[in-house]
Amino acid sequence: MMDVGRHPNIELLTHAEVEDVSGYVGNFRARVRKKARYVDEGECTACGDCAAVCPVVVPDEYQIGLGSRKAIHIPFPQAVPSAYIVAADECLGQNPIACGKCIEACEKKCIDFDMQDELLDLEVGAIIVATGMEVYDPTAVDEYGYARFPNVVTSMEFERLISTGGPLEGHFARPGDLTRPKHIGFIQCVGSRTQDPERGYPYCSNTCCMNTVKDAQYLKDNYPDTEITVFYMDLRTFGKGFEELLMRTKSNGVRYIRGLPGEVREDPASGNLRVTVENTTANRLETHEFDMLVLSVGGKPATNTEAIRQMVSLSKSPSGFLKEAHPKLRPVDTPTKGVYIAGAAESPKDVRESVTQASAAASHAAILLNKSRFAVEAITAVVDEDLCKMCGQCAGVCPFGAIHWEKKSVAHITSAACSGCGTCAAECKFGAIEMRHFSDQAMYAQLDAILDEDPSQKVVTFACNWCSYAGADTAGVARMAYPPNARIIRTMCSGRVNPEFIWYAFKKGAPVVLVSGCHYVDCHYIDANRSTTRRLDGLWDGLEKQGLRPDRLLLEWCSAAEGPRWQTIMTEAEKKRASVSPEEVERTRELLASARVPSPRNPKESDENQDAEFACMRCGHEWAGYFSANLERTCPQCRSNSVRWLRTSR
Ligand code: FES
Repeated sequence: MMDVGRHPNIELLTHAEVEDVSGYVGNFRARVRKKARYVDEGECTACGDCAAVCPVVVPDEYQIGLGSRKAIHIPFPQAVPSAYIVAADECLGQNPIACGKCIEACEKKCIDFDMQDELLDLEVGAIIVATGMEVYDPTAVDEYGYARFPNVVTSMEFERLISTGGPLEGHFARPGDLTRPKHIGFIQCVGSRTQDPERGYPYCSNTCCMNTVKDAQYLKDNYPDTEITVFYMDLRTFGKGFEELLMRTKSNGVRYIRGLPGEVREDPASGNLRVTVENTTANRLETHEFDMLVLSVGGKPATNTEAIRQMVSLSKSPSGFLKEAHPKLRPVDTPTKGVYIAGAAESPKDVRESVTQASAAASHAAILLNKSRFAVEAITAVVDEDLCKMCGQCAGVCPFGAIHWEKKSVAHITSAACSGCGTCAAECKFGAIEMRHFSDQAMYAQLDAILDEDPSQKVVTFACNWCSYAGADTAGVARMAYPPNARIIRTMCSGRVNPEFIWYAFKKGAPVVLVSGCHYVDCHYIDANRSTTRRLDGLWDGLEKQGLRPDRLLLEWCSAAEGPRWQTIMTEAEKKRASVSPEEVERTRELLASARVPSPRNPKESDENQDAEFACMRCGHEWAGYFSANLERTCPQCRSNSVRWLRTSR
């Protein structure tokens, strides 16, 4: 942090918040609110005279509430700049000044209550998002008694208790009676690796095992008479030197018991904690008594992650952390060109991993900034201004904010920001947006070629480039046999599939049309495939309104690694095709020859998070569930994604 503060090429804006980001790679504009500190950071010598007289005492968030600080304070000992700051909402009053003792105490006259927030408009070429993570609050895991027993603490609180910079200044003691604990228990995986959303998160938080091993070794080094027991599910010590450290703690007498405690009780007289656990190695129920219990809590996405995600147009993984462009090949890139991620904003990680990722992100940004020109893919959308009806629908669905539209003006696409998913072209009812390399004309030509001969034998399949097309490849490379009736039309994203293409295919005699793409969290264009689901809902309704079987239109998500799934999808699609008679195909042609295509049904905002009814287009199963535009729909019976939202019960 100090190095960053001193670096001539780095401008550090502390106590500042990004409020808005616009623009595109090489030309971002960020609006930053630099909040008033009420202390001149250039003049303040951090002498502390102001804090000594400040009458307002509040819990210190840096010490996780285990210590206190004043309203005028230094956020943490190594803070850069090393200058005091006034917490405006805690101070007794700056305007008019209600107390003013700090002003009188400050010899250098650094305190200025007339300071105002500053709004900075920065022009930047690249952005690195490194917003970190927060730790899980274990109150909900009630059997461990975190909210009831003072000597049950989290691993973060334990860090503060043993730290020389902590509230006890290195004189380690338990919080209940400030005596030094001699028997300490650690419980691993609190808030991690659970399928119960009330009790934490399903992922492994990566850092907790080694944090406990490190803490155990620290205690053994500094307080050798401490007896330490660690309760775990399994220990994940996969990094360089990690296993060796674990062995060291074992040789120093730290006990590791495989099994997570089911209950913790407190002895009110001594404040000690009795822990009941099933030791799964010894296959017996055991009770242990400790002076202090440490809950090794997992990490969770930072509170502001969603706001930042929306501001910078990023995707999110199911765990709520920001998602990289590719987990193996582009781990620091994001789907938005010129934006990179580093550290625990992407997933829980330790210092070493964070430093590695941050270095990579900084290098990527530097490479980008050193270029005089930036090549973008030629697959971008173009607006035909003569056809544009200025409705702005395209701007509403663009996941990258690449379309600029204002009332009564034609849409304008910034090519450098466009990633080429094509969802805008699919959304435009007036045919005013064309996709370079994936034009409507090319799509219709492919449909004609597929359906000109023997259409009743074909399964027209739209497959997105990144996942389902690659899934088909995986099935092919692995020699997985499936019916040969599929005729695949590749699109960059399933969001490119215009409902008109599907009507056209049915008009031309297609018995079955399949739309396939990436699973919800995997769409390479942030959330463009949410539009696909919405359009399919409209199409299923439309087919029904025309008196046609909606189950002739299928929707499936398939990742690049899911060759067997692709095989199943194709086999089921062929079964569906075989169930469509030539007469039905002929009747469809006749019906659609003169029919007006119904407009799609869009869920309303009030449908979100409501109980709803669904039907599977593959197996016919119907069930009641929960409607959310952000949840991937899967049939609980056959695992198909051809799930039609029937209605929301409100
Ligand atoms: Fe595959 Fe969007 S990229 S569905």
